[in-house]
Amino acid sequence: MGEEEDLDVQLEAQLAEQEEFEPPEEFVEQANVSDPGIYEEFEEEWPQSWERAADLLDWDQEWDAVLDDSDAPFYEWFVDGELNAAYNCVDRHVESGRKNHAAIKWEGEAGETRTYTYQDLYREVNEFAAALRELGVEEDDVVTLHLPMIPELPIAMLACARIGAPHSVVFAGFSADALATRMNAADSEYLITCDGYYRRGDALDHIEKANNGLAGVEHDVEDVVVVDRLGDELPHQLAENQHDYAELVAAQEGERVEPVSRDAEDMLFLMYTSGTTGKPKGAKHTTGGYLSYAAWTTQSVLDVKPEDTYWCAADIGWITGHSYIVYGPLALGSTTMMYEGTPDYPDKDRLWEIVEKNAVDIFYTAPTAIRAFMKWGEEYPATRDLSSLRLLGTVGEPINPRAWKWYYKHIGNESCPIVDTWWQTETGGMMITTLPGINNMKPGSAGPALPGIDAKVIAPDKSEVEPGRAGHLTIQRPWPGMLRTVYKNDERFIQEYWEAYSNPEEDEWVYFPEDGAKIDDDGYITVLGRIDDVINVSGHRLGTMEIESAVVGVEGVAEAAVVGGSHEVKGEAVYVYAITEDESGGDEDLHDRVIDGVEEAIGPFARPEEIVFTPELPKTRSGKIMRRLLEDIANGNELGNTSTLRNPDVVEDIQQQVRSD
Ligand code: WT7
Repeated sequence: MGEEEDLDVQLEAQLAEQEEFEPPEEFVEQANVSDPGIYEEFEEEWPQSWERAADLLDWDQEWDAVLDDSDAPFYEWFVDGELNAAYNCVDRHVESGRKNHAAIKWEGEAGETRTYTYQDLYREVNEFAAALRELGVEEDDVVTLHLPMIPELPIAMLACARIGAPHSVVFAGFSADALATRMNAADSEYLITCDGYYRRGDALDHIEKANNGLAGVEHDVEDVVVVDRLGDELPHQLAENQHDYAELVAAQEGERVEPVSRDAEDMLFLMYTSGTTGKPKGAKHTTGGYLSYAAWTTQSVLDVKPEDTYWCAADIGWITGHSYIVYGPLALGSTTMMYEGTPDYPDKDRLWEIVEKNAVDIFYTAPTAIRAFMKWGEEYPATRDLSSLRLLGTVGEPINPRAWKWYYKHIGNESCPIVDTWWQTETGGMMITTLPGINNMKPGSAGPALPGIDAKVIAPDKSEVEPGRAGHLTIQRPWPGMLRTVYKNDERFIQEYWEAYSNPEEDEWVYFPEDGAKIDDDGYITVLGRIDDVINVSGHRLGTMEIESAVVGVEGVAEAAVVGGSHEVKGEAVYVYAITEDESGGDEDLHDRVIDGVEEAIGPFARPEEIVFTPELPKTRSGKIMRRLLEDIANGNELGNTSTLRNPDVVEDIQQQVRSD
């Protein structure tokens, strides 16, 4: 299979540099988890072993059973247990005498700061929850949050959780169209957004986009709440059903809302993510299993302790921010940092300045950011005191050993372990990573599966592949943080994640994350990347089909194929190959309109790196577009035999265009 060959090539490159690093003794001595026996314990007691995660939370009602697998793969966890996520992330820390401890430390791009103690958070979450109630938000109503990195985002999430209204956060960088698509898909009648925010010193208009999005919502939208982030800098008018956030909260001053007891399996939130088709999938996450899993992995993998200042420099608009900026660290009662802006504003040492100023203990980011730091140069972190750091993490895409080593040396001063954490929107939390107090690290390899997680690398015939060979990553047992379904689409849930490797007759269910991987003799797993039509641009997950449909929607484009090409900093970049409607072959105007089309349909983060107009796309004799070949062209790879193509001549033409740019 061509797919496997490709994986093998990537593999060789990664193997070339592998070495092992031991976790520093000082770290091990203080680690939350340092007994290697934990792996065995989880095996022996499974699934009961997961009570360890659930026990990190306060429950209103204890569960009757840890796992119900009678309707697999629609698993249920902590059956009949009841709890409230906001209570667990806020109230209980206030009650246990830690009300003056900082919960959220926020830094705006322009340098202003805000600190919310647990008491402050308690007050504002309650008041906003009361405001939502008064607007008419009821338990189980899906509330859409289209907000950038401002404290009102986690506050709104927790306010929703408090009243049992699932949130659906749409990353602020998503376009109006993308917002409308997600509100439509979720039948969401409430939107919380803001007037604008800062990016590289500019005041960015956000409400215009939100309003354009609202115009595309097919049902009635009851209410819109608008956070005034920019004040006079961006005057805006509110429509009749739009309310100012600060006014709503002020009107509820002193109000308290009893946290609603939610069933463990009740939806906590929806998170839309890209898949093989053009339609995003709503991953449904639950209150009991998800929150237990987020708390447990934050404690065991990120080693977060209540007294830590912990910083995950992701955006809350993605799952990483949900699990590891908001729910995990707040459930544990620690201090979580939030930064509004870009890492190079006003200068390229901004993140290190924040680490220094706040004495950050733990730092978690994406390989694409690390590669950018490398490019900027080691002098930026070198001028800052980073000695408060104890642990580093990465997430979102494979990390190349060179970037790993740079991070280890220039950020961690060779004294912080690095956890390379593999997981997905769908898994809710980390799945494959070293435990920093136990395992050695191998740059480029995420590590073993976490205790209780059964990961295998298998071949298309379902047999396990030999160590060192590329195959498909699978998860052979359920886990509490898993998505429960694709919202309103159980069929797609089965099709996308379970059909490939399960054996329903035998009631054997195998989860397929659609990643390629290889496993070493010691159980360490190297994740090689997606095998479906999903690409990973700067850690952002994009469906090539979504981009294609945007490109084809541009007037003058007849047909298009979109693939990922490797990129030094972004990991992958978007390559568009398009056939024009007339013979003109595509001019600058069309080029710009294709870019606009993609930015309008998805957002600026999906912007194509390269657009190649071509009279034809390379196709097999049966008429299928040869995507692999287009990928090879984008990557500048040696092309194999093209003689089986229906139209081999187009290849050279396309190749030349890519090279000449
Ligand atoms: C895809 C999931 C997990 C939160 C952020 C991304 C890739 C993620 C790693 C890693 C290699 C990784 C996979 C996965 N991925 N982490 N440590 N090593 N690849 O979540 O947007 O749902 O994307 O990101 O391909 O399937 P997501």
